[in-house]
Amino acid sequence: MRVVIVKDYEQMSRTAALLIAKQLRSKPSSVLGFATGSTPLGTYKELIRMHRREGLDFSHARTFNLDEYFRLDPSHPQSYHTFMFENLFNKINVNPDRISIPDGMTEDVENFCADYERRIKQAGGLDLQLLGIGRDGHVGFNEPGSSLGSRTRLKTLAEETVRDNARFFKDKKEVPRLAITMGVGTILEARQLVMLASGEGKADAVKRSIEGPVTAQVTASALQLHPSVTVVADEGAASLLMHRRYYVYVEKMAEKYEADVGI
Ligand code: GLP
Repeated sequence: MRVVIVKDYEQMSRTAALLIAKQLRSKPSSVLGFATGSTPLGTYKELIRMHRREGLDFSHARTFNLDEYFRLDPSHPQSYHTFMFENLFNKINVNPDRISIPDGMTEDVENFCADYERRIKQAGGLDLQLLGIGRDGHVGFNEPGSSLGSRTRLKTLAEETVRDNARFFKDKKEVPRLAITMGVGTILEARQLVMLASGEGKADAVKRSIEGPVTAQVTASALQLHPSVTVVADEGAASLLMHRRYYVYVEKMAEKYEADVGI
């Protein structure tokens, strides 16, 4: 696991965007997994800038989003559909036919989820999945207790998550309690994972994910099982890491020798 500790949110965003751009440039038809939340917003801004200024081309890419609220119309201002189109898809040249976001309005959840998994496979699997992290250590909406082998399915949100998400909704009663999310097993099958974390509010979750035991109680800890993970954390999010200095040293060595030094 590569742990990149950067100064602030801007550097985190720039680092993540560079990793995504590298993937896309090496394989223009990449299958990219995107995430929502405030954390990846800066990364999306930087990708938009790279598209406009540096010709970063998304026209051959396919995208799959991690999750979507259940029973929230895609046109709702807080749906993850709206979020993705407003903050990224409308501003880059991705083909709308190649965008997949779970359908929170589906009448047949089980079939929809099985089909979502099938579509990811048919696309050749995810080349890179971008992830944020919840304060309880969740990835996607895989709340504590989610099986580490779980697949795309309907999940009940933890109270803490509902509270965290309430800030985006005018009427608190509107905050969804359920979501369709890729499972931990689905995420682990991506060929490359990039997890972002910013701010001290995430420090405990980051510590438990990276340095704690692998446990379904902190689903981001499952990333320890994956052979190609980059965690990009700013100073605040990295502040509780025990081996913080070592991670910084590893990055310096990688720079010095221009090599991956044991991800
Ligand atoms: C939600 C999303 C996650 C995201 C988390 C953190 O739960 N389903 O994908 O990582 O929020 O959001 P934020 O980045 O706003 O802290």
